[in-house]
Amino acid sequence: MKSILGLVSALALVSPNWVFSDCQEIDLQRFYGIPILSQEQLVACIEISDVLKDGIFYLEIPHECKEHISDALEFCYRFPNDEKVKEYTDGKFGGYHNREHTQIESFYIERRDWDTVLPTSIQQLAFKMARLSNILLETILVSSAIPKELWSEGTGLLTENGGQNHFSFNHYRPEKKAMGIKPHQDFGFASILFTEKAGLEAFYQGQWEEIPPLKDHFVVVLGKAFEILVNDVSKGSGAWHRVRQLSEERVSFAITCDNGEDQAVKRYEREINQLETVHESYQDYLTECFKQTYSLDSSFNTK
Ligand SMILES: [Fe+2]
Repeated sequence: MKSILGLVSALALVSPNWVFSDCQEIDLQRFYGIPILSQEQLVACIEISDVLKDGIFYLEIPHECKEHISDALEFCYRFPNDEKVKEYTDGKFGGYHNREHTQIESFYIERRDWDTVLPTSIQQLAFKMARLSNILLETILVSSAIPKELWSEGTGLLTENGGQNHFSFNHYRPEKKAMGIKPHQDFGFASILFTEKAGLEAFYQGQWEEIPPLKDHFVVVLGKAFEILVNDVSKGSGAWHRVRQLSEERVSFAITCDNGEDQAVKRYEREINQLETVHESYQDYLTECFKQTYSLDSSFNTK
């Protein structure tokens, strides 16, 4: 199997000449009806509309990440008692949260602080997943036919390494009487998620479907900023998903790809081949998204 570094070099070789028509379509394997991509398929951009328009798929876990998975799961159970976690805040969204109206307690931390707060093995996992998320981001931009010259501005500098990666650790507490988490879209471009037990559900092809853990695979959930940029749900959308009320403890962890905090949220207008601003400030956009997701009101709307 190729290493992640190998994948990055392969991508660097391929990407300068990538155009939409180069992408190939094949029959993907499926699990519970949800597409499964291998690393090679991701790098070669071998998937297209069926995957991106539904916004959720499985992605093979790179060999380099696998060695850290058990450490990360163990950390998910113990972070509420970790001294560095208790002290940590970045003054924005980062830090420990015990959300009302959900079963979640969670810890968010942005890339700039990983090496001072997270245990070594989990830092390594976070940076490896960040590299995987770069590959994923370029793939979905190619596959959704966003012109390369617009990537930097359209992603709030994510493709220039000027965006943000948030790592989140989630611990679902069955003693909290609420949904695990109500229906929502993730806020950024994409999340790469590891789940250990059933509970995740997605609105997939017109109905709520269970997304059970698939051995040796992450779940990729495309987000709202991606859907806004693509501006054509036949080419890509952010998956609505939820976690049902759980009767036993469950943990998960994820990495997200977000615009730079002082960047705007943009949408692509295909007819004029230009970007238009939808939200001036990514921070204000995030504030609104957090408020909607963690309020009692339902914002579920698949258009
Ligand atoms: Fe989510």
